Amino acid sequence: MKIQSTRGTYDILPDTCHVWGWLEATTRDLFRRFNFKEIRTPVFEKTELFMRTIGEETDIVSKEMYSFLDRKNRSLTLRPEGTASIVRSFIEHKLLQENVVNKVFYIGPMFRYERPQAGRQRQFHQLGVEIIGSDNAVADIEAISLLKSFFEEIGLDDVKFRINSTGSFESRPRLSKTLKGILASHIQDMCADCRIRYEKNVLRVYDCKVKGCQDVIQTLPGINELLEKDDIIHFTEVTKGLDALGIKYKIDNKLVRGLDYYTRTIFEAYSDKLGACDALAGGGRYDGLFQELGASMNVGAVGFAVGIERVINVLNTLNNLPAESTPDIFMIGSAAENSVLNLELIQKLRKSGFSVEFDLLSRNMKLQFRLASKIKAKVALIQGEEELKNNKIKLKNLALHEEILCDSDNLINKLNEILKYNCKEEGKDEV
Ligand code: HAM
Repeated sequence: MKIQSTRGTYDILPDTCHVWGWLEATTRDLFRRFNFKEIRTPVFEKTELFMRTIGEETDIVSKEMYSFLDRKNRSLTLRPEGTASIVRSFIEHKLLQENVVNKVFYIGPMFRYERPQAGRQRQFHQLGVEIIGSDNAVADIEAISLLKSFFEEIGLDDVKFRINSTGSFESRPRLSKTLKGILASHIQDMCADCRIRYEKNVLRVYDCKVKGCQDVIQTLPGINELLEKDDIIHFTEVTKGLDALGIKYKIDNKLVRGLDYYTRTIFEAYSDKLGACDALAGGGRYDGLFQELGASMNVGAVGFAVGIERVINVLNTLNNLPAESTPDIFMIGSAAENSVLNLELIQKLRKSGFSVEFDLLSRNMKLQFRLASKIKAKVALIQGEEELKNNKIKLKNLALHEEILCDSDNLINKLNEILKYNCKEEGKDEV
């Protein structure tokens, strides 16, 4: 019986891996410019971590976690997201200091037992950032502006943003109480999930998709109408900053997110090109989370995560994926007795920085040329008996179909000229 990949998981094959490499390299370069440092945390954690942070009644924790008992009967979970692990790590390694802001990023796989469909996998990948140690609105602006820059950098200019504020950690109990009062006369007619949300985190009622509940939600005030003065000031500062940076957004007063740890600003980036699973990224502020996990001080924090598969999907729809790089040189073997000399030359060229391929099946020259053009090598090199005797090498520009004879000693200069590189004995800089 053939063994196939597990439902909801996908292989990223060699013909698409270069897109991932490009996306990660572009991301790392951008994050460097914003002075974010990388953090890597384990792929699995104690189950309790996610129950305490994401919220027991959320879809992620109640239905979607990959949890298992290890050999010593401890419950572990494949991480469904990155934020909880980073908060745990910061507390564990005592990285929190008064008046110090830490900016970290991560890139890696996440796991949610969801119903697989377009844009929704069970193993998917996120890249995300967390700004830890500031409750200032300027940190929210920095996070959203980084997210906007990320989309611009990879060529997605028309990503849209929806944002909202859900009240601070301190004011949330009062906000919830008011909302519960408004909902009290409707809740018995709402779905079972909403009745649980009403008890555990009433704000999440806004997220219900059930038709009957939607009718009630229509009548509810926007969350902005329930906010206290300080929360309104914070949110206004955020929107003013975004306006100043020319970042367009829509305020969605009934937006809530599927993780319970959020406070104040929340936001989502979405694309019209994705259909039902339109969210490319989501994030927000989580000022209460450090305390919830036992930190000895109040820590303001804000961050976001981007769904990498969804971003690649949109780039693909727009036909905007980068082309794969092809070898610079294909070394044509002309005679078996030259093969050792060819290998030496290949090694020298690779050390200089050129990418070089040759035929590992040692076929005839016609088939080698066919392979060279199939893999889109830029230049073919041929050193037969005649050329060897005269210390020459034949160099064929495969795109222009031009052939020249070059002195072996001048080969690297000639290749640099044709390929517009600046390779020396070691290292290569594209010009
Ligand atoms: P999230 O909204 O749950 O937030 O996930 C962020 C992004 O991950 C989504 O917008 C989506 O693009 C992608 N995503 C989520 N689930 C799947 C899936 N099953 N298949 C494919 N893509 C998916 C978080 O995870 C928060 N930790 C973000 C955050 C960081 N908030 C503060 N800091």
